[in-house]
Amino acid sequence: MTTTAPAQRRVAVTGAASGIGRAVAALLKDQGDDVIGVDLKDADVCADLGTPAGRQEAVRAVLERSGGVLDAVIACAGISAQVPATIAVNYFGVTEILQGLRPALARADAPRAAFVGSIVGTKTGADDVVGACLAGDEPAALAAAAALAQAGAGRALYPASKAALARWVRRTAVSDAWAGAGIPLNAVGPGVVLTPMHAAVAVTEEQRRIVAQAVPMPLNGPAEPEVVARALRWLTGVENTHVTGQVLYVDGGAEAVLRGPDHV
Ligand code: NAI
Repeated sequence: MTTTAPAQRRVAVTGAASGIGRAVAALLKDQGDDVIGVDLKDADVCADLGTPAGRQEAVRAVLERSGGVLDAVIACAGISAQVPATIAVNYFGVTEILQGLRPALARADAPRAAFVGSIVGTKTGADDVVGACLAGDEPAALAAAAALAQAGAGRALYPASKAALARWVRRTAVSDAWAGAGIPLNAVGPGVVLTPMHAAVAVTEEQRRIVAQAVPMPLNGPAEPEVVARALRWLTGVENTHVTGQVLYVDGGAEAVLRGPDHV
C-alpha cells in the first residue's frame, strides 16, 4: 500500500470537454497533474466511447500517450438520452475503459480509479438491461434497451445504466484485479449538477420543478460541477487508501431523503 506518490500524477479523464469531467480535469491540472482528456472532440484523445471500436482506440491512444503507466483514471463521459446508446456510453463506456486501462494503473505506485454514477442509480427496474450489463453482454443489453425504448419506456434507460454501474462497482472493486492489485475503485453519485447535460433537460421552469421534485436536495440544492470534481479528486488521490467499492453520493442529501432513514 502506497500513500505517497510523485507530486505530478498522470490521470486519464473521460468526458473532459464538458461539465464534471472538464471541472475535474481543470482541478487536477491546477495542482500540476498531467491530464489526458478523452472525449468525442476538444480533447487529447478523441474517441466515441459508445462503440467497442471507439473504446479500443481510446485505450490504445491513452496507453501510447501515457507510456503505459497511469496514476488514476476518472470516467465522466455520459449521456442521458432515452435511447439504447445511453447504455453503451454510460455503462460499457465506463466499465470497458476502466478495465482496458487497468493494466496501466497496476504499474503505478498509488493507482486509483473512479467514475460518475448518479442518484438515479438507486432506482430499480429495467432488470433485463441491468442483468445483461452485469453479464458483460453488450449486444444483449442494447437489444433489451431497444425493446424498452420501443415500448415507450426509454426513460428507464438512464437510471438503468447508473443502477448497473452501482452494482458493478461493488463486485469489481473487491476482486483480485482491483483490490488485490491495490487499486481503489469507486463512484460518485451526484444529485443535480449544473452542467450542459442538466441545462438540456431543465429548460423551462416546469422542467426544473419536476427535476427538483425527483431529486430533493435539502443541503444547498443543485451543485456546481466543481463540487463533484473535488470528491472525485479525493477518491483518486493518494490519501484514499481504504475506500473502495462505494458510491459516494454528492447530492445535497437526496439519497438519504429518497431511500429513507432506515436504509443501510
Ligand atoms: P456534460 O454533457 O456536460 O458532459 C458529458 C461529456 O461526455 C461531454 O463532453 C460529452 O461530449 C462526453 N461524451 C458523451 N458521449 C460520449 C461518447 N460517446 N464518447 C466520448 N465522450 C462522450 O454532462 P455532465 O453533467 O458533466 O455529465 C458527466 C457525468 O455525470 C455523466 O455520466 C452524467 O450521467 C453524470 N451525472 C450528471 C448529473 C447532472 O445533473 N449533470 C447528475 C448525475 C450524474
